[in-house]
Amino acid sequence: MNTLDSETFARWFDLSTAALPAFAVEKVAAADLRYRRLSPAERDAVVVRILKRLAQGPQSVLDEKRRALWADVWSDQHAKAASGAFSTQALEPGFVSGDAVVRIAGDFALAASPRLELDVYAVVRRILFHQWAGKASAAFEFGSGSAFNLEDLALMYPALPITGLDWAPAAVALVDDMARQRGFKMRGRAFDFFAPDDSLEMPRDAAVFTFCALEQIGPKFEPFVDFLLRKRPAVCVHLEPILEFYRPEQSLVDHLAVAFHSARNYLTGFQTHLKGLESTGRIRIFDERRLGFGSLFHEGYSVIVWQPV
Ligand SMILES: C[S@@+](CC[C@H](N)C(=O)[O-])C[C@H]1O[C@@H](n2cnc3c(N)ncnc32)[C@H](O)[C@@H]1O
Repeated sequence: MNTLDSETFARWFDLSTAALPAFAVEKVAAADLRYRRLSPAERDAVVVRILKRLAQGPQSVLDEKRRALWADVWSDQHAKAASGAFSTQALEPGFVSGDAVVRIAGDFALAASPRLELDVYAVVRRILFHQWAGKASAAFEFGSGSAFNLEDLALMYPALPITGLDWAPAAVALVDDMARQRGFKMRGRAFDFFAPDDSLEMPRDAAVFTFCALEQIGPKFEPFVDFLLRKRPAVCVHLEPILEFYRPEQSLVDHLAVAFHSARNYLTGFQTHLKGLESTGRIRIFDERRLGFGSLFHEGYSVIVWQPV
């Protein structure tokens, strides 16, 4: 058995272990992050599972029914969170698969615990918050969903004013209710990536985050990027599946991820667009990072960090 230890996460981010935040190291220590590689027969069975899923057809996230679907998902989650007093456990979203097959270093692996993906996600966001939210005067998570990212951010930086934004009304209510119940300096606000609301005030030195949220808008990210260019936050941090990072000609595992990404119509052209903005001097890109980590179907956890100039 291998394990994802503090050295692994430090390597993923080109940091020394001493530079990792204590809150992330605590999570690494508390979680079961052991895994092993697959045998050839297990690997074949995983490939067949993915091919069968792909054979079911496109299942695009751009379907017009998605708004209603997310409204329902977060309405159920809000009820669950409220009945569990907005505890860490009660906030955990159901959509992180819990499948034992994951992707580590760009290849399939079998996790010892079905919680591995959720736990790695928690470690990664804590590192990102430590790297990019520490100096901010306010923080915004767009597409905040179950608000479990926001809980971590509030625990790390209790004095930081935080806004959680989503197009699902129950996700917005969840942020407000969690803030009241847990005493967090936080509020919810409605926001649609397809029609950004310019009346949102963003102070200087704000930090903007998206986690597995832009993935839901396919190639239609330009209104949101233009909105950020107008608002000029100090930093924009994205943990999203980035199509351009895969090497489908060299890797079967990547090839399957690209096929899945395309079938879902996930975020497309985002890195290329940001590169174009950088080449004309409109933005500065601070970090582009393929962690090589993901679920059975794809790598949802690639990092891009940039700043409007
Ligand atoms: C996969 S969930 C991720 C939620 C959360 N960021 C997390 O890490 O668990 C995607 C989120 O994006 C939101 N979303 C999808 N399309 C949106 C849109 N057009 N405008 C605003 N939010 C959207 C959904 O309601 C959902 O909360």
